[in-house]
Amino acid sequence: EKGTYPHYMLKEIDEQPLVMRKIIQAYQNETGELAIEDSILEAVNAADRIYIVACGTSYHAGLVGKEFLEKTAKIPTEVHVASEFVYNMPLLSEKPLFIFISQSGETADSRAVLVHIKGLGHPALTLTNVAGSTLSREANHTLLLHAGPEIAVASTKAYTAQIAVLAILAAVAGKAKGLEMSFDLIQELGIAANAMEAMTDDKEAFEQIAREYLSVTRNAFFIGRSMDYHVVQEAALKLKEISYIQAEGFAGGELKHGTIALIEDGTPVVAISTQENVNLSIRGNVKEVAARGAYTCIISMKGLEEEGDSYVIPHVNELLSPLVSVVPTQLIAYYAALHRDCDVDKPRNLAKSVTVE
Ligand code: M6R
Repeated sequence: EKGTYPHYMLKEIDEQPLVMRKIIQAYQNETGELAIEDSILEAVNAADRIYIVACGTSYHAGLVGKEFLEKTAKIPTEVHVASEFVYNMPLLSEKPLFIFISQSGETADSRAVLVHIKGLGHPALTLTNVAGSTLSREANHTLLLHAGPEIAVASTKAYTAQIAVLAILAAVAGKAKGLEMSFDLIQELGIAANAMEAMTDDKEAFEQIAREYLSVTRNAFFIGRSMDYHVVQEAALKLKEISYIQAEGFAGGELKHGTIALIEDGTPVVAISTQENVNLSIRGNVKEVAARGAYTCIISMKGLEEEGDSYVIPHVNELLSPLVSVVPTQLIAYYAALHRDCDVDKPRNLAKSVTVE
């Protein structure tokens, strides 16, 4: 039930800190350490390459998951859109492991890939929010997201839950191989949960940004680099699906290869900057578009901020930044849709779970 909330989407955005804490609890053993079933760890560490397969927002979480699996567990990882994978399969490695990411566990495009790769005899792990769902039943292993029911068509808390569970999976798999992480993941996830809470308590700021930048525009661009590039793709999808604004998320460096031609006087461009090594270059991209008339908005992370930034998110571990930087974009999309009188929880032409290919 949505209780006092006007929309499920807003309630689900607000639930994210709690979901983070539930996930930490669910994946802790009796001694307080992060733990994953042995059979899953064996499957992950036996793989010479991981293939993540998903759709929409879950695909975007997969892009972040690849970073964890490669950086903390040192396993080469590819991320694929399910509907493409099934018709145009890449050349597989000798010992692949497939990870399906699906909030509902019922997405037909992902299931088609699962059926296909099972036929080839490859193992599969499903990350899903729904115990007993089709993708969970048909895979060899399941990790649950513990996000609680997600009702709004626009996925929010499932995305951050998927990222948290992937971070835990990569950390525990890495540890099982003798790789130590440079930070305490439980502590950092807790810090991320607190940061999410600080932002969900600060909604007027995002309502204001949505009003100022997005209440009348036909299009909008999101730019970021590195981890922020993954998040801007999700930001654009969220804005598109609920506000019907034509939006795209781009890698900052790609703008000059074509997209910058679209910038006109007043075109909204939202940049995210949470990564120290690309902070200057993304700010350079913001200057390039501003010089061509774009109406620019910078969301930066504490420690990297500059005067004039539109919003500064609390500092969190850089690798986990998507958990936190996505929250402003969810709230901005929500308020943009409200300002434009859109049906936030049930956008036109969309279904919560897409059970046809
Ligand atoms: O249930 P799934 O995670 O498999 O769903 C995948 C996509 O259909 C879903 O994420 C969709 O993109 C959302 N509407 C995005 O908000």
